Amino acid sequence: PLVSMTEMLNKAKENGYAVGQFNLNNLEFTQAILQAAEEEKSPVILGVSEGAGRYMGGFKTVVNMVKGLMEEYNITVPVAIHLDHGSSFQSCAKAIHAGFTSVMIDASHHPFEENVALTSKVVELAHLHGVSVEAELGVVGGQEDDVVANGIIYANPDECEELVKRTGIDCLAPALGSVHGPYKGEPKLGFVEMEEISNRTGVPLVLHGGTGIPTKDIQKAISLGTAKINVNTENQMASAKRVREVLAENPDLYDPRKYLGPAREAIKETVIGKMREFGSSGKA
Ligand code: G3H
Ligand code: ZN
Repeated sequence: PLVSMTEMLNKAKENGYAVGQFNLNNLEFTQAILQAAEEEKSPVILGVSEGAGRYMGGFKTVVNMVKGLMEEYNITVPVAIHLDHGSSFQSCAKAIHAGFTSVMIDASHHPFEENVALTSKVVELAHLHGVSVEAELGVVGGQEDDVVANGIIYANPDECEELVKRTGIDCLAPALGSVHGPYKGEPKLGFVEMEEISNRTGVPLVLHGGTGIPTKDIQKAISLGTAKINVNTENQMASAKRVREVLAENPDLYDPRKYLGPAREAIKETVIGKMREFGSSGKA
């Protein structure tokens, strides 16, 4: 069923695993991620960035595509459709009214008081509709669609505590050294801050930039209160690699099903690997 993130993340935090957010880029990504979740008996969060939403034909199209596939595939595991890095109240409201079950309001680049005000407004509307809300503090490195960062800023634990208390968000993404896209060298995550923020806020924490984080760091993050891990680039790389291979081996091929089908398999394999690594397999 389509559900918000609240229950799945609280359950994950309590039981020491994390639910993956896998970003949708097109039909094949959506098919692959839903099939992986059902096969693994894992809860799953479908992340939709504003850019990817536009690419796929708007939020309503995305919701209808997800609902259609869930019915066709007889999906029984909990699925959330989540706006990733929502940039404004309007964008969150649009997603909520289109049928998203969860939204992220990313007001992390605004001054703290504005972040609190904007996030509170989103929470008010979202909770009225049974929709969960994720907020962010600090700056995640790298680039994802419209979200470009120059450098990394660690989230401030005092602000994290205050933001959660004043807004009533359901989960928090404190930037602690993670990066969107590939890492240059090993990530240096702020585990000391992560533990403090988890203890002081009590809400499940979200780790952005899940691509390229070593398993030991994933496990450590989960042990310190991280209950949601976002992955996009790794699926994109796996799918592009498979398309390149298939087209190189078959230079005369032109039917998109013949190269996007294998790409879909590559995404599915990658997602299954992540679900096992995050410990969410068998938890639906
Ligand atoms: O919001 C989406 C994620 O943070 C994706 O990060 O592309 O580095 O896996 P990634
Ligand atoms: Zn992100």
